[in-house]
Amino acid sequence: MSKPLILVVGATGTIGSHLVPRLAGRGARVRALVRDPRKAAGLGSGFEVVTGDLARPETITPALAGADKLFVVSNGTNIAELEGNVYAAARGSGVRHIVKLSGRQLDADFMADVPLAINQRAAEASLRATGIDWTIIRPATFMSNFPQWIDHAAGVIRLPVGEGRDTPTDPGDVADVGVEVLGAPSTSGCTST
Ligand SMILES: NC(=O)c1ccc[n+]([C@@H]2O[C@H](COP(=O)([O-])OP(=O)(O)OC[C@H]3O[C@@H](n4cnc5c(N)ncnc54)[C@H](OP(=O)(O)O)[C@@H]3O)[C@@H](O)[C@H]2O)c1
Repeated sequence: MSKPLILVVGATGTIGSHLVPRLAGRGARVRALVRDPRKAAGLGSGFEVVTGDLARPETITPALAGADKLFVVSNGTNIAELEGNVYAAARGSGVRHIVKLSGRQLDADFMADVPLAINQRAAEASLRATGIDWTIIRPATFMSNFPQWIDHAAGVIRLPVGEGRDTPTDPGDVADVGVEVLGAPSTSGCTST
């Protein structure tokens, strides 16, 4: 029996650019969906590249052809709409497990009116509504955000958290969670924070 084909959406981003080479390095069959194939050049080799755009649903269905598993990360102010397009397309495909990158504490009271949280909750709901096995990864702040907050003169990193505390995550570790989940049998209904 051939290995499952994994389609990675958001392959050129912070998490996807760790995930794709790590999956390929494990011998997985990987197809990377990218908007700009030139950006895929830095990801290495050992996987297939398809061009597509979640904002153009007609480009999604061909990318899903033959895919068994799907990893989805997107970004921006319309995550729910973009990801809703790929989840809708997945319903009629052979995909049997979808892993979505989301965000932490989406259900906390203080997140109720935060636009990103509203978007992510809606995207998660449309994923769950597919009826396809799913896993949602809800990571903390990525350490890769930190360079923007370095105060070189003072030799410190100033986080915009006031008196609060944060527990940042290495994007490579988040990708490793994705690698493990995609390599495992389907685990519907699992949320990892
Ligand atoms: N940053 C954090 O601290 C943090 C913490 C927890 C959760 N998150 C969540 O993580 C996600 C962001 O992950 P990331 O840092 O990997 O994002 P990123 O680096 O901005 O990557 C987003 C990826 O999505 C792709 N993409 C965006 N719009 C697309 C479209 N219309 N069609 C196809 N691909 C599209 C981008 O493609 P291009 O390369 O072409 O732009 C890129 O590959 C968000 O959902 C965010 O809520 C972030």
